[in-house]
Amino acid sequence: MKILHVALGSRSYPIYIGSDVLNQPELLTKHIKSKQVIVVSNPTVATLYLDTILAHLKDYVVETVLLPDGEEYKTMTSIMQIFDHLLESKFSRNATLIALGGGVIGDMGGFAAACYQRGIAFLQIPTTLLAQVDSSVGGKTGVNHPLGKNMIGAFYQPQCVIADTSVLNTLDNRQLAAGIAEIIKYGLIRDADFFVWLENNLSLLLNKDPLALAYAIEISCKNKAEVVAEDETESGVRATLNLGHTFGHALETGMGYGTYLHGEAVAIGLCLAAYLSKQLGWLTEAQVQRIITLLQQANLPTRPPKDLGCEKFIELMSVDKKNIDGNIRVILLKDIGLATLPMDINHDLLTHALTTYGR
Ligand code: NAD
Ligand code: GLY
Repeated sequence: MKILHVALGSRSYPIYIGSDVLNQPELLTKHIKSKQVIVVSNPTVATLYLDTILAHLKDYVVETVLLPDGEEYKTMTSIMQIFDHLLESKFSRNATLIALGGGVIGDMGGFAAACYQRGIAFLQIPTTLLAQVDSSVGGKTGVNHPLGKNMIGAFYQPQCVIADTSVLNTLDNRQLAAGIAEIIKYGLIRDADFFVWLENNLSLLLNKDPLALAYAIEISCKNKAEVVAEDETESGVRATLNLGHTFGHALETGMGYGTYLHGEAVAIGLCLAAYLSKQLGWLTEAQVQRIITLLQQANLPTRPPKDLGCEKFIELMSVDKKNIDGNIRVILLKDIGLATLPMDINHDLLTHALTTYGR
């Protein structure tokens, strides 16, 4: 097992990564300081892994809430379901919430924990590749709004993250690829060597080779933990973790939540960011091709859908947490492994990119 640390002073916490770490009850219980525990999950994940967790919690008063499965249910209605359950069970302020699932469950469980009685402790047990490499680390929690992705939320750190690589055996290939999109993102923004490693070892990841997966999760979490430790609430460098996301979030909202998986939308966004970076003279055509090729080899989409017009795309991009005073800001690449901070993007350049790239 590898243990990484997210260094945030009194809110620091460990990330446990390894095969079968879910079968180590003490990893879980040493982070639970209450008798009352609520497990938040969905029916898909619960069928596979809930019993394992419950078996470790025999000495606690445990409630379980299963939310409907899907990005389209990442809503305040689902959050209210968690609150209803907590209140009906008379759970106190020292209760602990365990989020067991992918990024949707993790983001919602964390947000409910941040709000219930102004904050209860929570633990992340991420069960998708995407959640293990990205969403469970760093304390971004929240829900979608019909007008904008992840627009309602809070920064709220977990007590620990337990990433069991063996749960990825039940993940389907489309979800696996979605996680690889975020892994590629780390290579692009700050780790050129890792990008090259991914070019050389992608087939191992696609075949779920346990050692390759564990390595990719570790390097991704290491990169994320360093960025979060430097800038927890995104006043600077943390925004680079959003490479491709301004485009990706617009695609998710515009096409209807759940049409594209988050990682798929991000993959298209990474290509658009790379294309714009080339337009500005920072990336070469060959570098853009390397990025597109790696994403394609990972079975990810690399072109925006024809039915989302440029005007609508730009309107959707104007609802983004990085924007300032109504100006659209994006993260671009100066090189593979070197992202810019958020920068205002010239409207004509953006229009040109959206009307020419992949059309
Ligand atoms: P998801 O949570 O919807 O999970 C994908 C699917 O896989 C679901 O159907 C789920 O039930 C199923 N599943 C989960 N674990 C499984 C397993 N082990 N075996 C079989 N099936 C399993 O999607 P996701 O890709 O994990 O997360 C996407 C969400 O994460 C988005 O809402 C995105 O905004 C958010 N996100 C948040 C952050 C952050 O920093 N908080 C970062 C990246 C993404
Ligand atoms: N996924 C972007 C972040 O955590 O900041």
